[in-house]
Amino acid sequence: MKTEILSVANMPGLDHGSFEEHFAMHWLWKAPDKAKLLAEVAPRVRGIQATGSSAVDAKLIDSLPKLEIIGCCGVGYDGIDVAAARKRKIPVTNTPDVLNDCVADLALGLLIAASRRLGRGERHVRSGSWLKGGVPLATRVSGKRLGIVGMGRIGRVIAQRASGFDMKIAYHSRRKVADVPFAHYERLVDLAKNSDFLVAILPGGKDTFHVIDEAVLRALGPKGILVNVARGSVVDEAALLKCLQEGALGAAGLDVFEEEPKMSEAFWQLDNVVLTPHIGSATHETRAAMSRLTLDNLIAHFAGKPLLTPVP
Ligand code: 8YV
Repeated sequence: MKTEILSVANMPGLDHGSFEEHFAMHWLWKAPDKAKLLAEVAPRVRGIQATGSSAVDAKLIDSLPKLEIIGCCGVGYDGIDVAAARKRKIPVTNTPDVLNDCVADLALGLLIAASRRLGRGERHVRSGSWLKGGVPLATRVSGKRLGIVGMGRIGRVIAQRASGFDMKIAYHSRRKVADVPFAHYERLVDLAKNSDFLVAILPGGKDTFHVIDEAVLRALGPKGILVNVARGSVVDEAALLKCLQEGALGAAGLDVFEEEPKMSEAFWQLDNVVLTPHIGSATHETRAAMSRLTLDNLIAHFAGKPLLTPVP
């Protein structure tokens, strides 16, 4: 008999076949009657497979008496009630490192798209408007001051990429990071004041809720550009929209939103934003690695071996 695992969320690239080779999978997200499936399998489920966008709350955890492990296919696990899991000594694993490159690539992509107005230029060509004239000048990327909010694994890779564009890098994080050569700002608003571009790459959750607020956006200023590849929750989205509409902030490149996939349709009307649908890790290569790492953590657990990437 295979060990029974509850899959609470799907994502493109999750390799269903290899999970099924090892486990009896219950794909909750595709069940027509979720409550019925849950009631049926709850007494037997020993593991959960989630994603970075999943909500795994205390109620779900407590409804699974045999639960032993939660494997999150994502580096962010802010939707998982780790405290509730810990109370029952249930470890949680995530997928760090394997997505650093792709998320950092997207951060730079959004930054270049927002500053060089790639979306605007593309719309101009596609609509046939080029035949009537060109587009306004944009903003240079190379050599600018880049503020990174969060100097974790992905923040470091973003800094590496940005060094290739001769940017002057500084960062804000709760604690100064010992082994990076960049200037540390204790106050985020001071970093924003001294940056041309601000890239958010910090964990979501209640500790970082709306840390990028109206004061930070105004400090970044009318020529400043915000890129968010972290979580929608770290930015006050209503303030962001207002600042973009008023010109108090120059532009933004956004991959994540507070209530994604929903957002104010007013964003769609703005020419100074570039919008992508949470695709930081969404490449064939990276999603395959994330899927494999999630599976390998589950396999390790049920083989009594050390977990590869438990969350701290
Ligand atoms: C995924 C992410 O897109 O790793 C994360 O934390 O946000 C992304 O890699 C997400 O897990 C999809 O649900």
